[in-house]
Amino acid sequence: MQEPSKAAKPGDLALLLDARGKPFLVRLEPGGRLHTHRGVVAHEDCIGRPWGSVVRSHRGEPFYLLEPSTEELIRYLPRQTQILYPKDIGYILLKLAVRPGRLVLEAGTGSGGLTLALAQAVWPLGRVVTYEVRPEMQALARRNLERVGLAEMVTWRLRDIAEGFEETEADALFLDLPEPWAYLPQAAAALRSGGFFGAILPTANQV
Ligand SMILES: C[S@@+](CC[C@H](N)C(=O)[O-])C[C@H]1O[C@@H](n2cnc3c(N)ncnc32)[C@H](O)[C@@H]1O
Repeated sequence: MQEPSKAAKPGDLALLLDARGKPFLVRLEPGGRLHTHRGVVAHEDCIGRPWGSVVRSHRGEPFYLLEPSTEELIRYLPRQTQILYPKDIGYILLKLAVRPGRLVLEAGTGSGGLTLALAQAVWPLGRVVTYEVRPEMQALARRNLERVGLAEMVTWRLRDIAEGFEETEADALFLDLPEPWAYLPQAAAALRSGGFFGAILPTANQV
């Protein structure tokens, strides 16, 4: 994960915003180039500059050089499923007492929006174990977390949670899938005594 710093470094994820607020998420590398309809931004012109600086494309067009927030990393995540809204994720992190060092289980992985927030919250000593039944979703989520440098915090399990969880002493467990009530015995078996449980049904129809 990206350590806090005042200036952009090689290997950092940067958010470049053009004059109309269009965002471009890039990993800065010496020699790298961002091609946009407002010209090309050389990564060299970003590396070493303080976050918040204005950098210019070869056409002189301005771009704000910003450190992406967790909310922006989730908002701009390539996705194929409904992802959780950041305001819900914030509440989930608080309700489930997700902190550094915790073991947190979730299902399903989906596009990895919640996985990203959980992995960042338990970093550096904790672990997230995420269960998904569809291989193509697991692959997408894994790519999404690799892009932000958090995939190593996560154990990826391809499995229908109807078959149960492999873990038995989780500090917290969260379900974001249809009919979460069908999996309560599996969830109870995976949690430590007194562990935290949550589930979401994002629409009234589903409830
Ligand atoms: C709404 S998405 C989860 C989105 C995710 N929380 C995010 O923020 O990106 C629900 C996922 O649960 C998976 N799923 C549904 N039933 C499942 C089951 N019984 N076991 C494991 N995964 C399941 C689906 O394939 C789908 O990818």
